[in-house]
Amino acid sequence: MKTFEKSNALLERELKVSPLAAQTYSKSYRYFSKGFAPSYMDHGEGCYIYDVDGNKFIDFMCALGPITVGYNEPAVNEAVIKQVNKFASGSLQSELEVELAEKICEIIPCAEMVRFVKNGGDATTAAIRLARAYTGRDHVLMSGYHGMQDWSIGASNNHKGVPDAVRALTTNFTYNDLDDLEKKLQEHKVAAVILEPIQSSGPKEGYLKRVKELTYKYGAILVFDEVVSGFHYALGGAQEVFGVSPDLVAFGKGMGNGYPISAVAGRKDLLKQIEEGVFVSTTFGGESIAMAASLATLKILEQPGFYEHINKIGTILRSGIQERIDKYELNDVLAVTGMPQHCGVAFDGHGSLSYLDVQSIYSQTILQHGIIQFAIYFLNAHHTEKEAKVYLDATDEAFSLIRKAIDSDSLEGILIGGKVNPVFKRNIK
Ligand SMILES: Cc1ncc(COP(=O)(O)O)c(C=O)c1O
Repeated sequence: MKTFEKSNALLERELKVSPLAAQTYSKSYRYFSKGFAPSYMDHGEGCYIYDVDGNKFIDFMCALGPITVGYNEPAVNEAVIKQVNKFASGSLQSELEVELAEKICEIIPCAEMVRFVKNGGDATTAAIRLARAYTGRDHVLMSGYHGMQDWSIGASNNHKGVPDAVRALTTNFTYNDLDDLEKKLQEHKVAAVILEPIQSSGPKEGYLKRVKELTYKYGAILVFDEVVSGFHYALGGAQEVFGVSPDLVAFGKGMGNGYPISAVAGRKDLLKQIEEGVFVSTTFGGESIAMAASLATLKILEQPGFYEHINKIGTILRSGIQERIDKYELNDVLAVTGMPQHCGVAFDGHGSLSYLDVQSIYSQTILQHGIIQFAIYFLNAHHTEKEAKVYLDATDEAFSLIRKAIDSDSLEGILIGGKVNPVFKRNIK
């Protein structure tokens, strides 16, 4: 039985001085089953993490996406250390910036030019600003989550603190629903259509192509938010997988195997506006350690077989989850959501059990099996069939307990740990 004395003591200290006791919303203790999860990590190795109490977990969360090749990856470490010994941020650019910009333009279908920033939200925000400047319009249509900035979070449920005047400039549209998109394109003078190209179980046949046609028909700019899909499905992102290139793309998360780097890339005439007064600039945009990490990461992602491996493990997991949903006849409360490379379970309530009750049983059980994961997994190069088996065994037990709870319409004797809290709900089902 794992214990978490040191983690719990740190959590108590941090809660007094830092809200949520985590700098990323979805990494907070609130979203893990209380009593079964650590809060603080000591180190990572491949697809494993070790908490501050010395407990070992298989990490199917990958830091919410950034760890694409693995923790403590020797080639990335080597590149980083080499650059650490030179400089991090400098008064001039590093040579790495040239190399990385050329690399992005080589591997990303829509990229003629690129601008580096730090977080995914910096990149999506830059894309929106470029689109607004180019079209001379203000309105944005969005589908998915695009970061914490006012223009996007204002259109979500978490809009407290965003002025109404800003909120009025962004409208959500429904993924995989072309009629909804066209209706909203007719209702507003739209600068940009921005979407996560892969949501739920992926785009319907021809959907992305038609989104592009509609966007152009109404004179708007198409932006793919590939902060999640980028570097997880294919080297060239969803635009490579589905053969549809946007005008602009935002990348983040997986670019640097955990080092902070993101980018907006796309058509030259759009990016060139940065030379003509469209302001996209950050102090740390050219910080060189993350660039060294990113170049080393991309070199690994480029190796033949990398994405075949991710796809193979993901396919085992995805089909294994569905088989177990069928086995326990849980199709009315559980659904597989996502494509094999990044996928998981969506929960509904049943009888007197809320969806959070059901999710809490799942969360508790997989933690007991030594797995750190949100409801949806990310994979890196080190996940193998061995880890997939642990995952599916844990899933099997979790689903059998969910079945039991539903049959008895009770959590008694089943949910031992605390309930998880609702997370920021993305458009995932
Ligand atoms: C699709 C998508 N876009 C943008 C963002 C924002 O990225 P960041 O948190 O790095 O600003 C996220 C973060 O989860 C994301 O999932």
